Amino acid sequence: MTPPLLDITGLEKRLPNGRVLYSNIDLLIAPGEFVAVMGESGIGKSTLLNIVAGLDGIDRGHVRFEDRELASMSDDATTLLRRDRMGFVFQAFHVLPHLDIEQNVGLPLLLQGLSRARIEARATAMLTAVGLAGRGRDFPAVLSGGELQRVAIARALIHGPALLLLDEPTGNLDPDTAARVLEVIDEQRRASGAATLLVTHSEVAAARADRVLTLRATGLAART
Ligand SMILES: Nc1ncnc2c1ncn2[C@@H]1O[C@H](COP(=O)(O)OP(=O)(O)O)[C@@H](O)[C@H]1O
Ligand SMILES: [Mg+2]
Repeated sequence: MTPPLLDITGLEKRLPNGRVLYSNIDLLIAPGEFVAVMGESGIGKSTLLNIVAGLDGIDRGHVRFEDRELASMSDDATTLLRRDRMGFVFQAFHVLPHLDIEQNVGLPLLLQGLSRARIEARATAMLTAVGLAGRGRDFPAVLSGGELQRVAIARALIHGPALLLLDEPTGNLDPDTAARVLEVIDEQRRASGAATLLVTHSEVAAARADRVLTLRATGLAART
């Protein structure tokens, strides 16, 4: 059996005030697998993604990504891991307003130090893949919410990450636009082979996943 890409065992997370947010969280994600985690608002879904990305610490248990224990890594090492091996899409798009669309999409490759020509070629291909061919010179202000989210998807996958992290990616979109964005996510994560961890309270979004789990304070379980 292939080793898991992500291995979370016995995770406990406390808030700064000491309250236990959740404990006994176990989650294995295989390379290329698409897992959705559902749970009510405030249960800690965004916190879980931050933990996986090495942006937030844990109080018990372990989190291993590609066989590396995140807690044992330096901040610089987790920054590099995040930059090279992960991609993110958030509810609020997080597209940089002063960069044009192509520059936004190419950002992960710029951070990796690729040449301008290679970045341009990859960004053009990614924009075409998400249905935004010819929009590279536009600025975010003239794009719709659904278009901005497709920009975010292109940016999240341009560097070929092993894991795509999606935090309520359709939360700000009307149902038709959300359906189109979900379609693009599914196409592009398949094309790239990235494993995907989606947190959402949308049944429609979760329905695309290979597995749907429910996050509770007592653990993460298959949805019943
Ligand atoms: N930096 C923080 N300091 C204190 N409490 C926080 C912090 N970040 C999140 N929380 C609390 O942690 C809980 C989980 O938040 P979050 O992960 O955003 O939940 P969800 O994404 O499921 O809505 C909430 O009760 C929130 O108020
Ligand atoms: Mg959240």
